[in-house]
Amino acid sequence: MTHTPRSVVIQGTGSYTPGDIQTNDDLAKIVDTSDEWIFTRTGIRERRIAEESEQSSDMGATAAAQALERAGVEAADIDLVIVATITPDMPFPSTACLIQTKLGIPNAVCMDIEAACSGFIYILEVAAALLQSGRYRHALVVGTEKLSSILDWEDRTTCVLFGDGAGAAVLGVSETPNVGLLDFKLGADGAKGDVLYMPGGGCAVPATPDSLDRRMHFLKMRGREVFKMAVTVMEKAAKEILEQNGVNSDQLACVIPHQANLRIIELLAARLEIPMDRFYLNLEKYGNTSAASIPIALDEAIQAGRLKSGDLALMVAFGAGLTWGATLVRCP
Ligand code: COA
Repeated sequence: MTHTPRSVVIQGTGSYTPGDIQTNDDLAKIVDTSDEWIFTRTGIRERRIAEESEQSSDMGATAAAQALERAGVEAADIDLVIVATITPDMPFPSTACLIQTKLGIPNAVCMDIEAACSGFIYILEVAAALLQSGRYRHALVVGTEKLSSILDWEDRTTCVLFGDGAGAAVLGVSETPNVGLLDFKLGADGAKGDVLYMPGGGCAVPATPDSLDRRMHFLKMRGREVFKMAVTVMEKAAKEILEQNGVNSDQLACVIPHQANLRIIELLAARLEIPMDRFYLNLEKYGNTSAASIPIALDEAIQAGRLKSGDLALMVAFGAGLTWGATLVRCP
């Protein structure tokens, strides 16, 4: 079989965040914290919290249905579903299979990929490569998280940072050269896994009364170390992808960073010498939604008219693993 190089383009996006808004003042009633501390250290004012009955697959399916509608693609035309999440509804079946059923997608290859907050960039690269192979026509990629289900609501150093939500995109191929997902720069450093992790719930520490007592089924983090690594790896990934594509940072119309902390983004902006007004920000409203962060921001940026035809955009993320990733996109 001969392969012609194809562009992989984003045909439609969607997002969903739960209706329940938890403000910093609400959190100050649960743990010893304040709106002033949280806002000045992170830039976060509020986050969304899913209902008990609302799972990652429900939020992901809602965002995905919107993406399908905006793309004008029928469920029957999707032959690949890839979900990025660290909060699957359950260890198996995959959240991708659950979303497939919820959307009535009759036949597709469905899988979850776990790369924490870098997950959406990871699944974009995997989906793009599979579409370029010519063996798939349309991919549905979804980042969805119910982080409220793994937060320790007695640990003020972590529970104030995260929120719930989902974002999705439909990808397809185009014969127009040099549009869509132009390139990727992904990486990981497993040796740094212990700065941000959840010890319990896998085969190493299954659920027992002891593991519950020791609060091992909650996210654990050494925030300061994560902060420094985040800036370093995102700067590196961004600079490498710009350089390998001969792009100057002033050619970027928009940067969509992982929405973890405003101070991390400000440092990144300074190191890349890109003005802050070119960064799309929504972390004030949602906090860090891990794998959902980039696709929610991407969808909002598109709906807000921040990405026009011909524009170049950079998406860049980091997360537990450590993992990181950047992708360069030209709007068709
Ligand atoms: N409210 C009030 N005080 C808090 C607090 C909270 N929610 N959380 C921590 N503190 C206290 C600490 O106990 C510490 O007190 P001490 O000095 O008496 O020991 C003090 O504030 C400073 O803590 P520190 O951890 O040094 O603060 P920081 O400036 O590094 O900010 C983070 C903490 C978590 C906001 C910051 O390190 C961060 O954002 N890191 C990156 C985390 C991240 O993005 N994770 C997701 C990766 S995908």
